[in-house]
Amino acid sequence: MRLTNEEKAMRDGSCGLAVAKAMDLLIRYGDAVGAENLIDVSSVSAGIITDGKTAPGKGDTAPFDAFFSEFYLDSSESVKIPRVRANTCTILHEMDSKLWQVQGVSQKTHDICDYLEDCCNRIGFAPAYTCAPYLVGYVPVKGEHCAWMESSAVPLCNSVFGGRTNTEGIESTGAAMLTGKIPNWGYHLDENRRGHYLVEVEHDVISGRDWGLMGYYIGHVVQEKIPVYSGIKNLPSLRKLMYCSAAGASSGGVEMFHIVGVTPEAYTAETAFGNRKPADVLKFGKNELKDAYERLQTASDPDVNFVMLGCPHYSLEEIWRISMMLEGKHIADHSNLWVFAPNAIKAMADRAGYTAVIEKAGGYIMCDTCPCIAETVPAGTKVFATDSPKQAHHMHSIMKIPAWYGSMEDCVNAALTGRWEGEF
Ligand code: F3S
Repeated sequence: MRLTNEEKAMRDGSCGLAVAKAMDLLIRYGDAVGAENLIDVSSVSAGIITDGKTAPGKGDTAPFDAFFSEFYLDSSESVKIPRVRANTCTILHEMDSKLWQVQGVSQKTHDICDYLEDCCNRIGFAPAYTCAPYLVGYVPVKGEHCAWMESSAVPLCNSVFGGRTNTEGIESTGAAMLTGKIPNWGYHLDENRRGHYLVEVEHDVISGRDWGLMGYYIGHVVQEKIPVYSGIKNLPSLRKLMYCSAAGASSGGVEMFHIVGVTPEAYTAETAFGNRKPADVLKFGKNELKDAYERLQTASDPDVNFVMLGCPHYSLEEIWRISMMLEGKHIADHSNLWVFAPNAIKAMADRAGYTAVIEKAGGYIMCDTCPCIAETVPAGTKVFATDSPKQAHHMHSIMKIPAWYGSMEDCVNAALTGRWEGEF
């Protein structure tokens, strides 16, 4: 790979051993994928992983340095980890720092998460703890390069904001945060951002549920190729696009999509395809919508013990809507309602009084985590309901819990009555 003089100096140790190791890792990564050079990233969204060992006392950073060196820098030699050079935030970890006992998180996991948060703060890793960093200020402008890890956020970055990122991993985000660089390949390059399949949308896709179903159906068909949706009559909100992104990344591996006339690189179908012909033309109509809906209903028992909302994490608007639906009501005795949001959004919900309404009704707003990441659900959960195709898909495959999938209103209603009454 071609390196600048600054990058060569970083590789050779001008900024310390950890940065030299990070640069070495990026060079090996870039060479493996055929990148010609490195590029500067404006933000890094990275996960925190643990080695599962009991946490040492706060302030003892040596175990963190050893652990970071091994898992993030691919180094058996433990090096001192300096402060990050890139604007970096965390994706989720296993616990809500206040409600971890309600969540069912063990004391040991709590102590490890607490220790890691302390260490991450020390190196300047912003404690966003969300799969939706764009809800808390990490919003790239068109053409800006990022190094993001979370699969539901990557298609949003590429498609909706016009930013540029591949789905990075632990090691590459670790190296990117210490250097501010990432190899220039994949979705960073114009030629890899053009559409592959034309999707003719023949049915009015209106609600958040419709957008999630369309993303889920098309993701399964195209896998990691780029679909170009055409014929959309109703301008989608950011939340609808979030459902579409997360769903396409879970049923397939969609990292980018275009919507003709809506997303920034699809002013027309021709621009979305870069004047190439589509590899195939797909249809999305009522039958396809129903097919995706039925595939997501893995439950048959109408008794619902657990309602999960906020996948990807909710914005303040959704929390406000839920608080209005719950005002003066109470959820069913045998049911649980957990709503997930970034901690910065919850701070606003607290001040606005929405949290108090939801808690008075028997629900919780949880932060920094989600059931799939923490692998925790309320005790006794046999059937759950969600408005997220991604959560329905993963909870059923990871935790073997059957799901009802529907709109936010269907789900809030299920929490209130303890029964699923949603219909297609
Ligand atoms: Fe976020 Fe967890 Fe869903 S990471 S996208 S809430 S599965």
